[in-house]
Amino acid sequence: MSDDRDSKKVLLELTEEHLDIGMRGIPVGTCRTSSVSPDGGVHYVGYPIAAVADKDPEDIVFLLFNKRLPTEEESIAFRKDLFSRATIPNGLVNMLENLPRDGHPMDWLSIGIHALGMLGKTEDWEEDALNLIAQMPYLMAAIFRIRGGRSGSLPDVDPNVGMVEAFVAMLEPEPEQVANMVKVLRTFLVLHMDHGGGNLSTFTGKAVASGHADLYASMAAAMNALSGPLHGRANQSCLEFVQRIGTNDPKKVEEFVRTELAAKRPIYGFGHAVLRVEDPRATFQFLLGEKICPDDEYFSIIRTLREVAPRVLRENPRISNPNANVDIASGTLLNHVGFKKPSYYTTFFGWARVVGIGAQIVDERTIARNGKGIPIYRPKYIAIEQELK
Ligand code: MLT
Repeated sequence: MSDDRDSKKVLLELTEEHLDIGMRGIPVGTCRTSSVSPDGGVHYVGYPIAAVADKDPEDIVFLLFNKRLPTEEESIAFRKDLFSRATIPNGLVNMLENLPRDGHPMDWLSIGIHALGMLGKTEDWEEDALNLIAQMPYLMAAIFRIRGGRSGSLPDVDPNVGMVEAFVAMLEPEPEQVANMVKVLRTFLVLHMDHGGGNLSTFTGKAVASGHADLYASMAAAMNALSGPLHGRANQSCLEFVQRIGTNDPKKVEEFVRTELAAKRPIYGFGHAVLRVEDPRATFQFLLGEKICPDDEYFSIIRTLREVAPRVLRENPRISNPNANVDIASGTLLNHVGFKKPSYYTTFFGWARVVGIGAQIVDERTIARNGKGIPIYRPKYIAIEQELK
């Protein structure tokens, strides 16, 4: 065919309107791990998130890397494999112990990941991705313990438990806290593992990896991208926002929302770049909250907020999605089970996203273009002529 466009599907006609909009909605590649649709939310390898939200986190790791769920035997073998990779190199804890305590936990997480790479990368994309996933509960536990004023030497954990159970055991909470902590964190991890290819942290991780920085350096970059308040740190801001509301009285909540809007402040926990309905991850967390903490003070506030805010936001025709997103309930649930400091919430998001970003980096580096990998990212910027002075 003479014109290439006759044989290839045209995805988007680009105009000047597509410039300087953060590449929003502009197709740049393909993604094998997950897809996000405006009316169905995220699907992991074709499974709607609600269909897999109850599964073991390790099985979802397997799914995102292998593009199918494991059999029972594979699931057991995969957990064993992960456990065998879960070594924390000497030097990591010392390094963490010397970081400034008042630094944000996301900065610690990013530095911790970078240090893990310096202390033990293999430079094989998949090996490093799986090693890092296996190391994450231990890195997380060391961060929580050291920042909480405890020793960073981690207690031994039962090799037969899952990653969330191991993390919780290393925190050594009160015995009555364990079951709900595990339940909420398992769900949190599964719900947050992946969200298509174009969200900022995933895109950043893949872009850095395209220059052949190693997996750990790429992931540290991804975590820095996730740490911004418009991306992952929104879950921290969301609980702080709910705490400011301070009432579940619908009239007062409505008044609060209107005051925030009038002052041009964000309504945390609502809206999304892609979704146009309530985020199924939010719906799932509300169901979990109704089971484990229906009478929790903050849960009763977000229950009211979920009714009131979309109604108020819908009055503004420029708001394309007035519905609840994944951040609305996650902080409330984490707080209820004992994680009282919102500044740590994004580290859980980061822990989860290491899985999806890792799987997508492996796909882009080793599978895409018949194994050749995606070339180094190099979008074009249109120069604006400047007058010489
Ligand atoms: C999410 O999980 O909702 C995201 O990472 C945000 C996005 O998709 O842009």
